[in-house]
Amino acid sequence: MRILLTGATGRIGAYLRDPLNMRGWEVVRWAGSHAVDLTDPGAVSRGLDQADADVVLHAAAISDAETCRRDPDRARTINVEAVAWISEWCAARGRRLVFTSTDMVFDGTKPWSTESDEPRPILAYGATKRAAELEALKAPDSVVARICLLYGPTLCDRETFYDKAVGQLRAGAPQTFFDDEFRTPLDYATAARALAMLAASDFRGIVHVGGAERLSRFELMTKVARGLGLDGSLVRSNSRAEASFSEPRPADVSLDTSRLAALLPTLERPPVEEAVRAMARGSAG
Ligand SMILES: NC(=O)c1ccc[n+]([C@@H]2O[C@H](COP(=O)([O-])OP(=O)(O)OC[C@H]3O[C@@H](n4cnc5c(N)ncnc54)[C@H](OP(=O)(O)O)[C@@H]3O)[C@@H](O)[C@H]2O)c1
Repeated sequence: MRILLTGATGRIGAYLRDPLNMRGWEVVRWAGSHAVDLTDPGAVSRGLDQADADVVLHAAAISDAETCRRDPDRARTINVEAVAWISEWCAARGRRLVFTSTDMVFDGTKPWSTESDEPRPILAYGATKRAAELEALKAPDSVVARICLLYGPTLCDRETFYDKAVGQLRAGAPQTFFDDEFRTPLDYATAARALAMLAASDFRGIVHVGGAERLSRFELMTKVARGLGLDGSLVRSNSRAEASFSEPRPADVSLDTSRLAALLPTLERPPVEEAVRAMARGSAG
């Protein structure tokens, strides 16, 4: 089987290298000299024809909420229109599409959103991803994987919030995190394994890809510090009310992940402390 991975140079794309290679699939990566510009419909169409993949795992996007807010036209082209082109290509040829969406499609007014809850994005980024979900779902054999907040050391040249925070904690600098904004965080390595498993499955529809625990960033980083043996007293809490935002942020986008657990019963989602130790060993080796 041949799989096309878009966004191969991104944070999730880098973590997908091993789970995809381990399946023995032929993997075509849109990266480096094989980069295809998602703002160019002709290039996307030619690139898809050339790759001629059985499955397209579409992980390329403008994933930064602030960039989407500042440049909505470009965000719409890359995050929505390009998904429509890819989805049409998959539909016309009977190929499978796995699309990476986000917990930010929800407005954050209720915990534990399920796949049947109505998305109501309040961030420009979330709005592009919701519009893209609808495009992706037009392909009959498609999966919309709504990904939660991911944590772990970067394996590419893009830093994650985790890299910055852990770097500062290691340097002995106190770090402050919200204790009143909730997600269901998952480590990058497990999220990548889940995406590869979903690509190989015959599931069609929406699935929430997240961790089992509903945590604030303060609770998450407290566990990270414990897992890595860092000084937990450096992890401090504050409230959203103490910060200013360029856009209102959803307060609770925790995801109900029972569908994921039922679909992928062999997927182990390690507790935070264990996950960060495993990823630290992986990135060191
Ligand atoms: N990481 C998370 O915590 C998280 C959480 C929820 C959902 N997601 C979703 O998961 C997916 C991957 O996220 P990520 O964090 O891995 O993103 P990322 O690190 O920002 O990487 C984005 C990828 O998209 C590519 N890309 C951007 N603009 C492009 C264009 N015009 N043409 C071709 N490629 C382009 C980038 O290529 P270049 O390197 O060439 O720029 C890069 O490979 C996204 O759909 C995101 O919305 C991520």
